[in-house]
Amino acid sequence: MDVRKVVIPVAGWGTRSLPATKNIPKEMLPIFKKPVVQYVVEEAQASGIDTVVLVTSQNKTIIEDHFDHNLSLESLLERQGKTEKLKEIRDVANMVNIIAVRQKVQLGLGHAVLCAREVCKDEPFAVMVGDDLMFGQKPGIQQLLDVAKAENMAVVGVIEVPESKVDRYGIIDGEEYGSGVFRVRSLVEKPQVGHAPSRLAIVGRYVLTPEIFEYLEKLTPGVGGELQLTDALQGLASRRRLLAVKLHGQRFDAGDWVEYLTANIYFALHDEDLHDDLVRRIQELVPSSGK
Ligand code: UTP
Repeated sequence: MDVRKVVIPVAGWGTRSLPATKNIPKEMLPIFKKPVVQYVVEEAQASGIDTVVLVTSQNKTIIEDHFDHNLSLESLLERQGKTEKLKEIRDVANMVNIIAVRQKVQLGLGHAVLCAREVCKDEPFAVMVGDDLMFGQKPGIQQLLDVAKAENMAVVGVIEVPESKVDRYGIIDGEEYGSGVFRVRSLVEKPQVGHAPSRLAIVGRYVLTPEIFEYLEKLTPGVGGELQLTDALQGLASRRRLLAVKLHGQRFDAGDWVEYLTANIYFALHDEDLHDDLVRRIQELVPSSGK
């Protein structure tokens, strides 16, 4: 299985992040020094993917622009001799090929992936949710690609969540297939606490085979009235054609304020120049945190 493309849906309204997202896409909010979506694209690039299919909507063109050249800025930095900054912004423009497709009405994640059908055609492809961040020794999507290639099957990324949080995720029911790998029997989107088949929650990383489009086309509104990708995955699971891989690493949902702010602190703490001052300031704000 050769996977060259990743679909990154970024067309949502980001209502949980209002008012910050009134005119700025959620995926462009900064985490430390970079916009959220840049981390996602870097993870794809580090996993050998060279083409990103952005599923966008109105007022989201600055996401495409971020991965393009800004020639005026580049010539300014060149004139000012700011070579390091110049390299940094040119590198972002040269990272991947960008293809943009429109999701004209925000009908849900499943519908967003369906919008990329004409671009993906009959190739397997990855999906990375544009506001979900994963950091670890091995890039999150690489962990899925390794299993998808070895088993020649579609794969979803899962993490174990506390019972009290199962109602925020798609949850899988599966049987052990290998170490940290499960064959998915069924999936349920946002089950009520106490009614989930497991605590294995789908996070925004998938490797899919083109047969998913057959199921996406037939979707009817699911939880929240949205066309849910989780519901389409049931089609693959019923044919025993879907695996789940337990992901290793840190994960942050940038659409949730606590997670978003924690991700900022996580990166800032990894910056040698900022670390000590930041720790001191946090201790001043939360006196008990130093004990
Ligand atoms: P979310 O449900 O987290 O995003 O979808 P949202 O709908 O923008 O946010 P809230 O819940 O209103 O705050 C995960 C990702 O899928 C994209 C979003 O842009 C986000 O990156 N998405 C969601 C689409 O592209 N289209 C949709 O119809 C829904």
